[in-house]
Amino acid sequence: MKKILVINGPNINMLGIREPEVYGEKSYKELLVFIDIAAEAAGVEILCFQSNSEGAIVDRIQQAYGEIDGIIINPAAYTHTSIAIPDALKAVGIPAVEVHLSDISTREDYRKHSLTSEACQKTIIGKGFEGYKEAIEYLIRS
Ligand code: DQA
Repeated sequence: MKKILVINGPNINMLGIREPEVYGEKSYKELLVFIDIAAEAAGVEILCFQSNSEGAIVDRIQQAYGEIDGIIINPAAYTHTSIAIPDALKAVGIPAVEVHLSDISTREDYRKHSLTSEACQKTIIGKGFEGYKEAIEYLIRS
């Protein structure tokens, strides 16, 4: 069975409270349930990790080396600022998919560029929770 690690970055734990007009009304807890259901249907083992700290995300990616078959990452605001996160993804060489709940291509200019995407095989944007399901299905096939 494939082991997939889902990493969510800063403020994703505030889903439901945070700008519901942008990110929807469902909570982070509901996202975890959604991911669990998608994982069970796909027959994969899923581990979920959320942190507001860039260093903790880098540490978790490094720990995944030799242990995890695929990474799904929503780096949140670090998407647009972090070099350490894509460096860590490249260092471990685990197939990764970047997911964004909102459509970052139609929002503020500073959100249009992702530094993380060059370390990911695929980027899924603007599909809400469904994006995580699509990422699981992509990783299974790859
Ligand atoms: C986000 C988009 C980012 O620009 C933002 O900083 C987030 C969430 C998304 O899922 O749409 O925190 O990654």
